[in-house]
Amino acid sequence: MSSSDDKITSLLSEERVFEPPTEGRDAAAIGSLDAYHAEYKRSMEDPEGYWAERAEELVTWDKKWDTVLDADFDKPEFHWFKGGKLNVSYNCLDRHLENGRRNKAALIWQGEPEEDVKVYTYQMLHTEVCRFANVLKKKGVKKGDRVSIYLPMIPELSIALLACARLGAIHSVVFAGFSSVALQSRIQDCEAKVLVTADAVIRAGKTIPLKPNADEALSECDTIESCVVVKRAGNDVSMTDGRDSWWHDEVAESDIASTCDPESMDAEDILFILYTSGSTGKPKGVVHTTGGYLTYVMHTCQYVFDMKDDDVYWCTADVGWVTGHSYILYGPLGLGATSIMFEGVPTYPGPDRFWKIVEKFQVNTFYTAPTVIRALMRDGDGPTQRYDLSSLRILGSVGEPINPEAWMWYHVNIGKEKLPIVDTWWQTETGGLMISPLPYATPTKPGSASLPLPGIDAAIFNEEGEEAGPNEGGHLVIRKPWPGMLRGVFGDPERYKKAYFNRYKDTYDPEDGARKDDDGYFWIMGRLDDVVNVSGHRLGTAEIESALVSHPVIAEAAAVGIPHTIKGQAVYAFVTPNTGVEHTPELLAELRGHVRKEIGPIATPDAIQYAPGLPKTRSGKIMRRVLRKIAANDFENFGDTSTLADPSVVEDLIKGKKALD
Ligand code: WT7
Repeated sequence: MSSSDDKITSLLSEERVFEPPTEGRDAAAIGSLDAYHAEYKRSMEDPEGYWAERAEELVTWDKKWDTVLDADFDKPEFHWFKGGKLNVSYNCLDRHLENGRRNKAALIWQGEPEEDVKVYTYQMLHTEVCRFANVLKKKGVKKGDRVSIYLPMIPELSIALLACARLGAIHSVVFAGFSSVALQSRIQDCEAKVLVTADAVIRAGKTIPLKPNADEALSECDTIESCVVVKRAGNDVSMTDGRDSWWHDEVAESDIASTCDPESMDAEDILFILYTSGSTGKPKGVVHTTGGYLTYVMHTCQYVFDMKDDDVYWCTADVGWVTGHSYILYGPLGLGATSIMFEGVPTYPGPDRFWKIVEKFQVNTFYTAPTVIRALMRDGDGPTQRYDLSSLRILGSVGEPINPEAWMWYHVNIGKEKLPIVDTWWQTETGGLMISPLPYATPTKPGSASLPLPGIDAAIFNEEGEEAGPNEGGHLVIRKPWPGMLRGVFGDPERYKKAYFNRYKDTYDPEDGARKDDDGYFWIMGRLDDVVNVSGHRLGTAEIESALVSHPVIAEAAAVGIPHTIKGQAVYAFVTPNTGVEHTPELLAELRGHVRKEIGPIATPDAIQYAPGLPKTRSGKIMRRVLRKIAANDFENFGDTSTLADPSVVEDLIKGKKALD
């Protein structure tokens, strides 16, 4: 859908509507559709007044702000709560020690082995965060320094993030499933001083070494002075003298009784950088700041998850993605909730693992991804019936449009046909949820993220920048700034402007296609740029292509997304080897391994096809929509191909594809 001559259309037609439960309404933050509309209206009429109220109510400020919002879409530059001072770790920890939550579980960690469980009360978590903050301090980490974190889903991951926030250091988490090459480029881009990593990842019963990746990455990272290593699996690792040390040794030296004062930060100081894929090669270092981000993640947690003091809340994402940052850590801990962190995978040792955890900890709110639901659906409803799921009250979904079939399975088997499902649309860049039902207010329609949250001015624009009519497909846009919005692409202001604020004046452009139905419900159709959404994770096709052509025998490559029953989308690649290179199946296998090594397992193409040539326009642009159709076995609806330089290329590719199947 990347080229402008493709009309954005949606074929999905879904008529079912489910009313929100009546039980629980009275105690909900927003308990009726009328209450939602009233609050939404107020937030649109006086956005600054609205956000000031929310920021005041949710966050503890060391010093109140001077101005609520200072926005300039043309520059672009956005300052929220200018002059305000606060510390995020203070808000997530210290204040709860004084407000009755001291001995309440903040984090419940369930390791992959069933018996590996750790519970951190707010006080215990505070102690561990202070200890590790002191370790970082000793390593010379100061306010504004960058710390890269490459850890599996173990408690130290959460502790490390909060320790950075405490010192005012900027964390940059790199998902532990990424390769050494991906880690290296991210460390180099943000010029991190310290890396925090582990000996290994435990996943589906296997120990996967992690430290060797870190070593490989660090071979070309001059800025790294220290590397702190968590012992998770106990496998052998090599430690570099003068650079590497063990987490447990370091914290043992850090006095348990000594605290670490939280650094009072400016509202607009950077809290973290998180890299995400874009349509050009290099991942973007999305920048989030302190005051607005915290306000926004707490605001959305309170409204969408209706988070209550005695709630046990479980978001199944990895802290390595924005979902984990915002909805395992900062949002829930800001509100003083109990948040579960799970190390394992949904299908190991069996497809009942999630439901076992729900029963074990009596989970009230469960937030997962459509790809997980689809994977679990394969085993039918048996595994869900063996457990008592009656503690559940709210179900959530995130990462990609949820197909109505998965929605219904979730609704029937987990929600027992009575729990609200919140299908939350948002992005790394938005910091928090943007379009979503409110559990006790919004009637839901399977597959629709429904209505924008209070404070969010979402609309559908056509190519001309006019608001599209009902059910007319177009670009999803956000017309007003919101506190959780990204403040930049680290080190690249040009790219920030070009990627998000260029298409239409005075609007944020998320690069998603969508339509709005007669009831004002949003139906998100997916990415409009050259990004593939595999299992709810964004991968830039340009990154995959540059990995393929970095192989010595590959001259040219094009990667596209194809529909996949479990993953949503899978990667399909076309490659043109150098002349004289034999087109063997072995080379294709090697190329898949190569992408895996360059980017990580999630980017591995499901299939690669040899292409004697790629379909290009006369100006040399690859016609991706043609490739997308061929990859999906649709050999007819190519649209306008009159600008193709050499139409015979297409015939060759079709022949090649047919021969593959
Ligand atoms: C892209 C953002 C947000 C955290 C996880 C992914 C797609 C996400 C939904 C949803 C339809 C969705 C969009 C978006 N997306 N949630 N509920 N319905 N599409 O974060 O990697 O930044 O990806 O994921 O296309 O732009 P991300």
